[in-house]
Amino acid sequence: MSHTIERPSRLDTARRAFSWRDAVVYQVYLRSFRDANGDGIGDLGGLSQGLDAIAALGCDAIWLNPCYASPQRDHGYDIADYLTIDPAYGTLEEFDEVVRRAHELGLRVLMDMVANHCSSDHAWFQAALAAEPGSDERARFIFRDGLGPDGELPPNNWDSVFGGLAWTRVTERDGRPGQWYLHSFDTSQPDFDWRHPAVAEHFENVLRFWFERGVDGFRIDVAHGHFKDAALPDHPGGRGPDAGHNHGMWDQPEVHDLYRSWRALGDAYEPEKYFVGEIWVPSPDRLADYLRPDELHNAFSFDLLVQPWNADRFRKAIETGLAVGRGWPAWTLANHDVHRAVTRYGQEQPLDEALPTDMIAAARRRGPADLDRGLRRARAAAALALALPGSMYLYQGEELGLPEVLDLPDAARQDPIWTRSNGTELGRDGCRIPLPWTREGRTFGFSDAAAATTWLPQPAWFGAFARATQAADPDSMLSLHRDLLATRRTHLRGTEPIVWLSPAGAEVLAFRRGDVVVVTNFGSAPFTPPSAWGALSPLLASQPLTGSATVPPETTVWSRLHRGVAA
Ligand code: GLC
Ligand code: CA
Repeated sequence: MSHTIERPSRLDTARRAFSWRDAVVYQVYLRSFRDANGDGIGDLGGLSQGLDAIAALGCDAIWLNPCYASPQRDHGYDIADYLTIDPAYGTLEEFDEVVRRAHELGLRVLMDMVANHCSSDHAWFQAALAAEPGSDERARFIFRDGLGPDGELPPNNWDSVFGGLAWTRVTERDGRPGQWYLHSFDTSQPDFDWRHPAVAEHFENVLRFWFERGVDGFRIDVAHGHFKDAALPDHPGGRGPDAGHNHGMWDQPEVHDLYRSWRALGDAYEPEKYFVGEIWVPSPDRLADYLRPDELHNAFSFDLLVQPWNADRFRKAIETGLAVGRGWPAWTLANHDVHRAVTRYGQEQPLDEALPTDMIAAARRRGPADLDRGLRRARAAAALALALPGSMYLYQGEELGLPEVLDLPDAARQDPIWTRSNGTELGRDGCRIPLPWTREGRTFGFSDAAAATTWLPQPAWFGAFARATQAADPDSMLSLHRDLLATRRTHLRGTEPIVWLSPAGAEVLAFRRGDVVVVTNFGSAPFTPPSAWGALSPLLASQPLTGSATVPPETTVWSRLHRGVAA
């Protein structure tokens, strides 16, 4: 292995062919991406300005977290009107401009479909509150009488994902305590009853509305949630964090008919529209059911995201992902719901633990982090994931190697998880801090207004991670990502499957795809590929190579294979 690495020189953004199978999708958490009007909240104007940076990185698409009208109790995952843009983010015209500009840059646009629940401010829910028990207005949601002599006990023992009960009792028009409604998440997020025909009809209209505006597809929020067991049975596991998967609450058979109908709706467009699901189910087989040819195109392979830094665990997650995703999974190492990768990989890696039932909680640990080590591992993990067959979802700020902000002042925290868990869970604010664009300035270039105050405070050290600084530094996390995406485009977008190579020693993961050999060294000693693997010359490495034929510790190297390889 020699140590000279070719740096890709130029990106040809306009002529990229899009395929959901191997796209790199940049996840835009709009509220924290860029603020054009100076109120300290990211917006569509800011996104329009920042699209060039996303295209320059080499991405194929963006996924936009919810930007519909919303009281923002769960930052847009509580939607009051599915057919408008929240005024804090801009207007429909500005949305159209984002789509136009994105398409011009060769970027597809995915929106977020939050259809398990809406906001308690939604006109339907307000009408349901005003209506009588048993009315059609109430039947669009899951209202039930309580148990106990006065209905003072909830209809069953279900917990909300965000902590506390999944039921809230309402006050009827006569001022008396009345029925209870189900909310799988926050009180402000009432679940729809998907067995009511008006619900399905409404969402078909919503899909069409955005498709007609040029949206190319949707990420489906809690896609395993839309139906509940009609009998609403108690969870045999009881309540609390150790209660296990609640089979009555998730993953009901009817949900598959729903996706069949959405798929048919999307397939009627040319080119066809695309769906990727956020699905948490207890087994790979259940996940695979959502990916039958007439259902969703894709589902996130969260299994990889929740793994500790360990070769065996990564390999198993990759194999599961490939099997479930029929060779083309949707990989991701971070999103707006989990702690940032640099921090996670810099913390103690809990190898012995079985996966907790709330896999997201597994990726939101507290505890000290060695950030240098975390960054080294996050670089290697990104290089590994981007070499795999499948698509990659890159959460904004991961390309900057941002650490999680763990020490936000309590008073600044906004995530309902923080309040609903009484502060026992930090929640997700720390991965949603407004991005740093420049090293200097009050908001590090996030806001156009000099006096702006960002909606979550940025720590003083954020400027050191600024995009502008990293763009000029060939060794930065940003440059690594640019190089990875460009080299992937030239060398790793074929249909070649993975052929695992088996080195002696447990701490290395290695595979060949076509004429590229990818080696990730998880261990702390350098690794020298056996000569039987053939003549390799490095294309790219997540750490500087020292000139010897070795892969440094906590490093991924992509190499080109010059002669045949003995696998
Ligand atoms: C999904 C979203 C998360 C949101 C929840 C409720 O898990 O990713 O951010 O809070 O659904 O909509
Ligand atoms: Ca703004």
